[in-house]
Amino acid sequence: MRVCITGICGFIGSHLADKLIAHGYEVCGIDNLDPQVHGPSGDPPPYLNPAVKFLKGDVCETVVEYLLPCDAVVHLAASVGVGQSAYQISDYVFNNSYGTGMLLQSLMKHPPKKLIVASSMSVYGEGECADDEDPHRFPENFEKFGFDPCWPDGVPYQFVPTTEYKKISLQSIYALTKYDQERMCLLWGRASNVPTIALRLFNVYGSRQSLSNPYTGVIAIFASRLLNNKPPIIFEDGQQRRDFVHVSDVARGIRLALESDVSNEVINIGSGQSWSVLEVAERLSNVLWKDIKPEITGQHRVGDIRHCFADISKARQLLGYAPQHGLDSGLMELLPWLKSQTPIDRFDEHHAELGSKGLLR
Ligand code: UD1
Repeated sequence: MRVCITGICGFIGSHLADKLIAHGYEVCGIDNLDPQVHGPSGDPPPYLNPAVKFLKGDVCETVVEYLLPCDAVVHLAASVGVGQSAYQISDYVFNNSYGTGMLLQSLMKHPPKKLIVASSMSVYGEGECADDEDPHRFPENFEKFGFDPCWPDGVPYQFVPTTEYKKISLQSIYALTKYDQERMCLLWGRASNVPTIALRLFNVYGSRQSLSNPYTGVIAIFASRLLNNKPPIIFEDGQQRRDFVHVSDVARGIRLALESDVSNEVINIGSGQSWSVLEVAERLSNVLWKDIKPEITGQHRVGDIRHCFADISKARQLLGYAPQHGLDSGLMELLPWLKSQTPIDRFDEHHAELGSKGLLR
């Protein structure tokens, strides 16, 4: 079976390629090698599996056609960054929404037997809360007590693991473009009789995640700060909760989706556990043996949500997905790779940019 992965040089794409090759798949893929993620060289990363047939190119162009036909396509290519999407709007819409349109246009000529698209937990906005179903309450219409959303009568939200049935609530341009990707693929899959699955990925971390990209996930940003002997900068009060899922579990989830008979579904892929950002900063400092306390700013990034963590029962039921890593074992697995890196910490530039654009409040 030949699988084409878009965004194959990213950390999820490259781990997926390794996993699929180990399971006997033939793998090809494209990546535009965005300098923000891969640095200025323009070369594919050294970790890219040599068995991959690689083409440097952008999903926004038609280069992917040189790799088609394929039995399956996994669409991971995207610009990723909630904060950056607030001011580089046309870039995000172009790369994510238009790029997916271009990919599907190419697939019209060579439809695969399966299409998997990486969607995101960002489409949920605030995570699910226990009384979400109460028709007299409108969960997105909330007041705030400190950083915590509460009902207009002052009763705080009771957050629970978020299911796929949670109403969509797009809070950032990034989220909107991920929803575009998800919907376009599902609509096209249905119309073209191509079984399609959108996986809503939670906060993915792991080796090969770009440490010098200040727009990436919080674990990579904190690791880069600590390796440069600087304190992690925590937004809000650090009590906001997320579901941190190890990249190997995500790669396994994608492989299971490829191999399943499921079609036309959205499925959460997370760890099924939640951690506060402050807990993550502390655990990472411990693992790296750095006696550096995080700085808590009390400011929040415009577009950030407070809490969201995954209910993964649907993935368990439909795909047989069972995460192998909790946060502690995941960070231990990450450690040797972190220690081999000398990241450039660009967080201060990013932070100043958000501030100057009024995106920190
Ligand atoms: C968002 C998206 C997610 C996407 C990810 C990639 C939402 C709800 N989710 O996740 O789909 O995959 O971006 O960028 O939009 N934080 C700090 N200090 C930092 C960096 C982050 O305190 O230096 C905090 C943030 O304020 C946030 C949490 O850490 O509360 C997680 O941030 P981040 O890793 O950027 O991911 P999300 O915003 O949850």
